[in-house]
Amino acid sequence: MSDTPLISVRDLSVHFGVRGGGLGKKPVVRAVEGVDLDIEKGSFFGLVGESGSGKTTLGRALLRAVPITRGDLTYDDGEKKYDLAAIEKGDLKDYRTRAQLIFQDPYAALSPRMTVRDIIAEPLEVMGITASKAETDERVREIAAKCRLNLEHLRRFPHAFSGGQRQRISIARALVSRPRFVVADESVAALDVSIQADVLNLLKDIQQEMGLTFLFISHDLSVVAHVCDHVAVMYLGRLVETAPTRELFANPRHPYTRALLSAIPSLDPDDDSVVDKLEGEIPSPTNPPPGCKFQTRCRFAIDRCRTEEPLLDHAAHQHNVACHRWQELVEVFEAEDAAAKERSDKRHAATAKAEKAKASGKNKGKTKPKSKPGSKGK
Ligand SMILES: Nc1ncnc2c1ncn2[C@@H]1O[C@H](COP(=O)(O)OP(=O)(O)OP(=O)(O)O)[C@@H](O)[C@H]1O
Ligand code: SF4
Ligand SMILES: [Mg+2]
Repeated sequence: MSDTPLISVRDLSVHFGVRGGGLGKKPVVRAVEGVDLDIEKGSFFGLVGESGSGKTTLGRALLRAVPITRGDLTYDDGEKKYDLAAIEKGDLKDYRTRAQLIFQDPYAALSPRMTVRDIIAEPLEVMGITASKAETDERVREIAAKCRLNLEHLRRFPHAFSGGQRQRISIARALVSRPRFVVADESVAALDVSIQADVLNLLKDIQQEMGLTFLFISHDLSVVAHVCDHVAVMYLGRLVETAPTRELFANPRHPYTRALLSAIPSLDPDDDSVVDKLEGEIPSPTNPPPGCKFQTRCRFAIDRCRTEEPLLDHAAHQHNVACHRWQELVEVFEAEDAAAKERSDKRHAATAKAEKAKASGKNKGKTKPKSKPGSKGK
């Protein structure tokens, strides 16, 4: 990886004016507010957060698919560099060949009246990338093969495919222009769990093979843990924590991240190690609370949190957190984790003891009384 990030974002805000609110000021939705972010080349970068936290809006801003209210936004792949906040129409057209979106819903995204070949070929034709039909066909066949679609598939219409296959068609369509940067917005959320892993593995394989950089948007942290190398956590338009995936899962520093991680279902049905429960609803981005945006739901909120907004602070290598109290909470979290582990160990020990007792009881029942040969049938 080179030192220059592919995407560099500083103080980015995206606001939407909405109707309503009666007389006076028009309400404003602060969907993204003051975001700083670097996405390294070749990274599989995860963006997580509850519904309404601004993930899609941030992803669309990076693709310049929504107007930017304020901030700096740069794309630099080593070959081309764009100031995306001030990009002109002609450059935007070129940028669109380098930055693509994979849609969430594989059913809505594909036109039912077009063959799979035409669906995949369309971006090449619309963007004028290929010079002849033969070249278009070559590019379509190449990306279809990467997405595990064969020639027979290309002749069919999308209704003849399963959800997983349709998502592979969507992926082929997004990648046929050979982009460098791909935003995958909830790209496996609509699929059965059994198919999700297949599509995720495909995305990961293609990312490595084509040297792509991904922004992978998801509300599912277990999916993010599976594929992403770096994660940013978003809450009410702000980034509250960013870190390499392992570091984030091992040492979450923000109370919101910790609550999200606690909410991941355990495979153990008796697991009572949940130490942090996320209560209440995310506030409206038209009327966000003052100070820390998480203060209305945070069990650690103090007066300072209600007046002063925390900035991202350096917690460890590549690990940043926006919480006034993150340093003092390190010990609190460690104590909570230790107590949860002790409860879990005790429970496992009790289960193991009960199973042992049960097994020995069964064995006792099976033990035949010893009898001397020839002493039978008196
Ligand atoms: N075009 C728009 N006009 C007005 N408000 C919008 C617009 N797009 C998004 N919003 C609002 O901005 C906020 C953030 O929305 P966004 O779709 O980015 O969230 P999200 O994190 O992607 O949520 P989800 O997980 O449900 O997809 C929401 O309150 C949403 O209603
Ligand atoms: S700044 Fe305060 S309210 Fe916000 S997460 Fe930290 S402790 Fe909670
Ligand atoms: Mg979304």
